[in-house]
Amino acid sequence: MLTSLQPNQDFARFVQLVKTKSGIDLALYKEPQMKRRLNSLRERRGFASFVDFYNAFSSQPDLYAEFLDQMTINVSEFFRNPQRWDVLRDKVFPELMKLSPKPKCWSAACSTGEEPYSMAMLLSEFLELRDIRLLATDLDQHVIERAQIGNYAAAAVKDVPKAHLNNYFTKQGERYQISDQIKRCVQFKRHNLLADRYETGFDLIVCRNVLIYFTDEAKEAIFTKFSQALRPGGYLFIGGTEQIFQPQQYGLEATETFFYRKKQ
Ligand SMILES: C[S@@+](CC[C@H](N)C(=O)[O-])C[C@H]1O[C@@H](n2cnc3c(N)ncnc32)[C@H](O)[C@@H]1O
Repeated sequence: MLTSLQPNQDFARFVQLVKTKSGIDLALYKEPQMKRRLNSLRERRGFASFVDFYNAFSSQPDLYAEFLDQMTINVSEFFRNPQRWDVLRDKVFPELMKLSPKPKCWSAACSTGEEPYSMAMLLSEFLELRDIRLLATDLDQHVIERAQIGNYAAAAVKDVPKAHLNNYFTKQGERYQISDQIKRCVQFKRHNLLADRYETGFDLIVCRNVLIYFTDEAKEAIFTKFSQALRPGGYLFIGGTEQIFQPQQYGLEATETFFYRKKQ
């Protein structure tokens, strides 16, 4: 019987089953963290093994959604690490707009929408809203649906500049609703960074606080694809705990901290 597998074999079999069901390759995520998170959910839900857990969520969409939530970590906030967004506004956007007056931007692993909506608000300081083109993608359909609704707790908006808060949000009790004008700037799509084809011709790719979950091998593949997806002179903006050790290997050069530019 499958439940009699050794713990390591049990997890390995689970990884295979999940890949076949969903195309999500858990083997490309750092194993100790991933296993710890999933283990705690499996135990809370009372399954003796990972394979039992898989069998249960195969026929229970709510449990499957809970598994996805647990594996993806959806924490986000508007203008996360605000000093980095100052660099984006004061240095990167002006530089980019010399090349592309209407830059094509991508927020990859956008979670519940705080990041692409922050980009849209920042771009509104340079462009008419109708000229803003932003793609926002995530692996998890559930967070994309929440992003499309665009309703946030006060903690998520704490770093939104006052003027943007007044212009682009409506307060609803304790919560904040993003305006339709900003929503219209962003096109949301489901996309798996580890498996799906990447669009090309981007002037800016923002991918923050997800690369830390991937193995080195997976990160290398992603950096190669990001570089191919950027136009010469385009920028990649990554998270505060992430770094590209040899950017030149991907045809990128470090400019500001956490910003890399594709060589022209
Ligand atoms: C911690 S959130 C980061 C949100 C936002 N970028 C930020 O920095 O605030 C990580 C997001 O990565 C997404 N994610 C995890 N694996 C992914 C994959 N293989 N492809 C695309 N997105 C993925 C998760 O669903 C989650 O929404």
